[in-house]
Amino acid sequence: RAVKDSAENAGARYVYLIEEPMAAAIGAGIPVKEPNGNLVVDIGGGTTEIGVISLGGLVLSKSIRVAGDSMDQAIVDYIKKNFNLLIGDRIAEELKIKIGTAIQLDEELTTTVRGRDQVEGTLTSIEITSEHIRGAMKDSLEEIAGALKDVLEQTPPELAGDIVENGIVLTGGGALIRGLDKYLSDIVKLPVYIAEDPLLAVAKGTGIALDELDMLQQMAEGK
Ligand SMILES: Nc1ncnc2c1ncn2[C@@H]1O[C@H](COP(=O)(O)OP(=O)(O)OP(=O)(O)O)[C@@H](O)[C@H]1O
Ligand SMILES: [Mg+2]
Repeated sequence: RAVKDSAENAGARYVYLIEEPMAAAIGAGIPVKEPNGNLVVDIGGGTTEIGVISLGGLVLSKSIRVAGDSMDQAIVDYIKKNFNLLIGDRIAEELKIKIGTAIQLDEELTTTVRGRDQVEGTLTSIEITSEHIRGAMKDSLEEIAGALKDVLEQTPPELAGDIVENGIVLTGGGALIRGLDKYLSDIVKLPVYIAEDPLLAVAKGTGIALDELDMLQQMAEGK
């Protein structure tokens, strides 16, 4: 409401708002207008948004402030606590992307990380493994899984049946976390798929929605 009012006051003729899970679902290619129920989990930087969609509407949604950024922060804290090494958010994000994993790997990954020794104050480097990063991200991953379980429990039975059939779709940068699809699938016992180009889903979906509005408007104006 506030966003809409201020945009209109600023001179916008029409203001349309699209919820992020809806944009993500459209961008992921989910047939949102069908009576079928679909579930999308958009894991961004600041928030994870979970939405159940049917007949072009958001039937149910949940947003938690646990996503990529909180994992980066958890990695900073973990490395400080376990290795007395101080690293910044950017390095933590690089570690998450390079060796982060939600599940145990057949061959765990390793990398070298440089930072400042908390005790000596000197620059040092240590070897770190994907198991460490998984340990650091554990709480964040569990919170995301818990939110997903909550949404599934609140989903009306007829739509839940569709979700069992269609599976769950992951979007946002967090969808790229190694093994996250399997991790979530093992917990909720449902198929989980990663959208094509998950980082672009929301932008793509917003673009598609705008094009459609444009078309409707032109039809209304008889163009
Ligand atoms: N390959 C990857 N593996 C793991 N995480 C990744 C990868 N690529 C990007 N990310 C993470 O995805 C997050 C950004 O995703 P996205 O662009 O969807 O978020 P956003 O839309 O900007 O945030 P929000 O939706 O919270 O406003 C960052 O935390 C980033 O570190
Ligand atoms: Mg986003």
